[in-house]
Amino acid sequence: MPEILPSILAADFTRLGQHMAQAEAGGVNIFHLDVMDGRFAPNFSIGIPIVEAARRATKAKLDVHLMIVEPDRYVQTFIRAGADCVSVQQEACTHLDRTLRLIQSEGALAGVVLNPMTPVSTLHHALDIADYVLLMSVNPGFGGQKFIPYVLDKARALRDHRERLGLKFAIEIDGGITVDNISIVAEAGVDWFVAGSSVFGTPDPAAAVVAMRKAAASAALRNA
Ligand code: DX5
Ligand code: ZN
Repeated sequence: MPEILPSILAADFTRLGQHMAQAEAGGVNIFHLDVMDGRFAPNFSIGIPIVEAARRATKAKLDVHLMIVEPDRYVQTFIRAGADCVSVQQEACTHLDRTLRLIQSEGALAGVVLNPMTPVSTLHHALDIADYVLLMSVNPGFGGQKFIPYVLDKARALRDHRERLGLKFAIEIDGGITVDNISIVAEAGVDWFVAGSSVFGTPDPAAAVVAMRKAAASAALRNA
């Protein structure tokens, strides 16, 4: 079943808990939280206090996307703040094997993220360890950007690789996902869909979640 992961970067921070609850009413099992350090990504976003607040605001899982350099330094801190899933940028990890295993040793799901231009081939053995792969379909840093279509080829390659080797990782995509493009993204094999502005930027976040999940589910069925 496809998962819609509302990215709180697009939420109204003056009423974060309420806004999350509005989206959750549409059936949300995982929220996406974007952490940026102003170095890996050209922006600052949220830190530990907001992850702790989000943890208090929902029973849904928290998927923390670390767009930071040297993520090893903070993986445990974010998990102790409430992260259930932690993803690290392949481009920011010197020792990716150790980082993924560190996340898992702390009891969280370990994800590896590829920027749009980073080839899937850089993952290779990481696919045997990672619980999920997050494909950036925008350049990290901001919500509300346009979807980058060539990333679909990477999703298809990951799906085929997963099938060929009988692996279990989930495929997540992040950036520019809307109700208009989610079908073609689902047909490419994506399981988890991060959606910021197309959920929190609408007057009815729950309806946006329902509409996107429905479109993704029927596309995935067509593709089965
Ligand atoms: C961008 C973030 C994305 C972003 C998605 O650096 O990683 O998660 O919040 O926002 P939308 O869905 O508005 O493109
Ligand atoms: Zn993200």
